[in-house]
Amino acid sequence: MTFWKEVEDMNNFAFHVPTDIRFGRDQIQCLPEELGKLGKKILLVYGGGSIRKTGLYDRIRSLLQDFEVYELPGIEPNPKLSSVEKGREICREKKIDAILAVGGGSVIDASKHIAAAACYEGAPWDLVLDRSLVKDALPVAVVLTICATGSEMNSGAVITNENTSEKLEINTPLLYPRLSICDPTYLYTLPAKQTAAGCVDILSHAMEQYFQPNDGAYITDALSEAVMKTVVRYAKKAMEEPEDYEARSNLMWASTIGLNHLLTVGKGGAWSVHPMEHVVSAFYDITHGVGLAILTPAWMEYVLSEGTAHRFARFAREVFGVTEPDDMRAACLSVEKVRDFNRSLGMPEHLLEAGVPDDRLEEMASEAVRTSGLSTRAYVKLGKEDVLKIFASCR
Ligand code: NZQ
Ligand code: ZN
Repeated sequence: MTFWKEVEDMNNFAFHVPTDIRFGRDQIQCLPEELGKLGKKILLVYGGGSIRKTGLYDRIRSLLQDFEVYELPGIEPNPKLSSVEKGREICREKKIDAILAVGGGSVIDASKHIAAAACYEGAPWDLVLDRSLVKDALPVAVVLTICATGSEMNSGAVITNENTSEKLEINTPLLYPRLSICDPTYLYTLPAKQTAAGCVDILSHAMEQYFQPNDGAYITDALSEAVMKTVVRYAKKAMEEPEDYEARSNLMWASTIGLNHLLTVGKGGAWSVHPMEHVVSAFYDITHGVGLAILTPAWMEYVLSEGTAHRFARFAREVFGVTEPDDMRAACLSVEKVRDFNRSLGMPEHLLEAGVPDDRLEEMASEAVRTSGLSTRAYVKLGKEDVLKIFASCR
């Protein structure tokens, strides 16, 4: 375990996010006009049926009556490569112009991968293993129904290869959605558990970008703090009062800002908890936010040291209002604050509670290190033995 030396200056950066966001009540009215700019033959991609129950499906079909619409329902949480392959076949056979993803991260990510795979001759998984092979992609538009991943305004797509138990990200500028409709009232029907998991994910995205070895990007850190405070302020409220527009709208925008590159500009480095969680959800198909809730406090405890205490202390003070003046004591309190927050949302604290036994921890630790920058570019560089200890502490 090695702590990366702090660098003082904000890193140079480029920032270009081409997604047209339409945020607020009934913004879906713009769909025919805006989608029409992308084409007439549409592949409508959605999940296991929530949009049919909520009436959103009917609304969209009636808005799209002048389009030629084909459907790919049934995208599963932690979307699988086989779904991408199905989507690609439809795109090719029907000569689809654009993809409309209606759902959350899983539906959007599958749609992005389908969009790239439709323009590629080889196997879709090649694109995940080597993103430079993505030379073109169909345009993707989004109607967001759960706020968590930020996929609605970023260029990443996380896909699980069920044959190899790998869950990896493909990330290239060609995958930015062209349009994302974010209506907070679509979140009203979210079950409390999904609301909670989404909030943990948003918090984690901000933390991954905040805990990086660069103290000079003050403004970027302050934006992260605003996102994290928003989650802490509204998560419970959204669970208890699902139709509270203030809570839903603030969380929805927090999720978008949380992972649209704004919180990473001027900083840099690899993420820590996400690569560990992706292996857990690849092996055991658990909800992403649940895995993050279990692993985050364990990671914090493990990397907390004299070298990192000042940043954990700032996090404790700015996000949780801790007033303890001593850095190390404030830093330790930050771990407790995150645990308490997760508990307040009803999140499990141990892997076993989430259905993850402890017989493959070593294999998972190797995978997490192999498939990420954990050992080379993370805030605190972690090797396989470190990751194994973190997993073991979550048993
Ligand atoms: O499938 P349906 O029936 O639609 O139900 C979904 C699903 O079961 C349900 N749901 C969504 N909106 C609803 C609703 N139920 C009722 N009312 C609504 N309005 O919620 C369940 C979870 O949906 P999912 O899309 O899986 O959630 P989320 O947005 O959290 O996405 C998780 C996936 O995204 C990946 C995760 O690893 C995971 O595979 N991530 C993607 C990222 C990215 N592209 O940038 C970054 C993240 O760190 C993350 O890794
Ligand atoms: Zn995430």
